[in-house]
Amino acid sequence: MKLFRTKPIEIDSTAINTDLKRVLGSVDLVFLGVGAIIGAGIFVLTGIAAANYAGPAVVLSFVVAGIAVTFAALSYAELATSIGGAGSAYGYSYAGLGEFVAWMIGWMLILEYSVAIAAVSVGWSGYINNSLAAIGIHLPEMLIKAPSHGGWINLPAMLIILVLGTLLATGAKVTAKLNAIMVLVKIAAILLFISIALFHVNTSYWTPFMPFGWEGVMTGAASIFFAYIGFDAVSTAAEETQNPQKDLPIGILGSLAICTLFYMLVATLLTGIVPYSSLDVPSPVSDSLLRIGVKWASGVIAIGAIVGLTTVILVLYFGLTRIIFAISRDGLLPPFFSYINKKTSSPVRVILLTGLVMASIAGLTPLNEIVELTNIGTLGAFTVVCAGVAILRYTKPDLQRPFKTPFSPGIPLLGILSCGYLVIQLSGATWIRFSIWLIIGLVIYFTYSYHHSKLSNPR
Ligand code: ALA
Repeated sequence: MKLFRTKPIEIDSTAINTDLKRVLGSVDLVFLGVGAIIGAGIFVLTGIAAANYAGPAVVLSFVVAGIAVTFAALSYAELATSIGGAGSAYGYSYAGLGEFVAWMIGWMLILEYSVAIAAVSVGWSGYINNSLAAIGIHLPEMLIKAPSHGGWINLPAMLIILVLGTLLATGAKVTAKLNAIMVLVKIAAILLFISIALFHVNTSYWTPFMPFGWEGVMTGAASIFFAYIGFDAVSTAAEETQNPQKDLPIGILGSLAICTLFYMLVATLLTGIVPYSSLDVPSPVSDSLLRIGVKWASGVIAIGAIVGLTTVILVLYFGLTRIIFAISRDGLLPPFFSYINKKTSSPVRVILLTGLVMASIAGLTPLNEIVELTNIGTLGAFTVVCAGVAILRYTKPDLQRPFKTPFSPGIPLLGILSCGYLVIQLSGATWIRFSIWLIIGLVIYFTYSYHHSKLSNPR
């Protein structure tokens, strides 16, 4: 039964004993959320989903995925304020569902974040190389492609991870400030696209609106789900937030609302200014402006996309280090990972180590084959968080809940169903790879974590 031992919940989640510094406010959190959310999803996947699955109805795919994500986000907001902690879904499971489930969720989150970070840095490298090529600078092919694509190494993808790791090591406040500046740049780029596209809409491109029917809309929803990943990273800042019980729901739900609005506007306009069938390209947003003849803006959008992808890598990297820190602090990973540098109040060792690992993955492996692992890991975590809300309402009715998910257990149940639906859309190969990852997790748990858990060895 030790597998199901739970961690006691602090009466007040702000009382968690932490070496991290509480330096972030609600505005920082909204910026972190928008930083993590808007990236490859809108700048790359929208076009692919419109051309191949949904047609102009890709906007409905965004609505469907957005609804599923909102159910999960409401559940995150409740547990982030009532349980808190840097471990996010891992920590909530530890309090509500027991150590074994918590470890497996933590292990899934490590996969989700690492693969997403490596994948987005490869996208970043692609955008940089294209932009440099447009102004006549051609980097050697061998240095911009992984061996599986005929090169030696994807150097730009590796470098961006290492540079952002250095920034993260300087501490949460500096990171949040630079993130906010970059988020403003990417929002400006999106607003520029919207304001130009508004005057070039050709309504005939919207018919037929649903060329692939509802089935296409749903497949589109599963494929653009990636665009919404990231709001959960806000919850990993719980121990660095000044007033988590008020600020976390604002950060989580506020950033999600802003991004959903932008996504719907961009998807509608993108399919209104060029035929949807022409959008199956790696940079559909800037490409569409080229097609309607606004060349200068296309370049500006490309810069916005590069900055946008940078913030996604930065905030997900932040989240990854906080989750590993929290797992290690509980004894389930070696103490090496929870060392906090006194000067910067940041987990420098874990930042460095994960940076080196992710840079190697980004630079050397065939990432496009494993990128779906991000979706499966995230959907698994979302499902458990929704289940956690419903279960804790029942097992711990007296828990202080500064933010309450409305209509519980209805909303958490709808969250479980919709995430479950999206998960079954993923490919068999992804399921097999995911199972292998879980088996490795099981081995680590039973050989190390189970014996070193702080719950077995209280100091
Ligand atoms: N939501 C993030 C993106 O679209 C992961 O890049």
